Amino acid sequence: MIDTKVFDCTMIELSRHHSDRKGNLTVIENSVTVPFNVKRTYYLYDVPGGESRGGHAHKDLHQLIVAASGSFTVTLDDGSVKRTFLLNRPYQGLLVVPGIWRTLDDFSSGAVCMVLASEGYDESDYIRDYNDFIELKR
Ligand code: TYD
Repeated sequence: MIDTKVFDCTMIELSRHHSDRKGNLTVIENSVTVPFNVKRTYYLYDVPGGESRGGHAHKDLHQLIVAASGSFTVTLDDGSVKRTFLLNRPYQGLLVVPGIWRTLDDFSSGAVCMVLASEGYDESDYIRDYNDFIELKR
């Protein structure tokens, strides 16, 4: 995790099965769509305007972040470089590798941030202090 860079994180295009009559369907499948096995899914919703979420990094967790509805921004930071992504399409996902500080902002009304994660919930995998993060990345 020490060596990871924001440039190791990428936006990926997900499948979109379109029907003029029935609407759209997007599939995310282990090892096919995402380069890890999804062990956990969680989603953020009803985030009040102006609130920020997710100010932390993970030691081992790989994630795919999707705006299942609405929009928000994700800022990734590897201690040297920051990149900000606008997520506003349910058929796009941001792959985030371990060792990246990530912050989610600018949630639109009705936004749903879906996160598919490579591991179960483990508080010991979190780095919640930015100074600790910077120390680890040195
Ligand atoms: P937290 O990761 O602090 O949210 P954020 O960084 O987006 O603000 O999680 C908020 C709460 O939810 C915290 O008490 C831990 C709990 N939680 C779980 O129990 N399981 C999970 O998978 C996640 C992601 C959080």
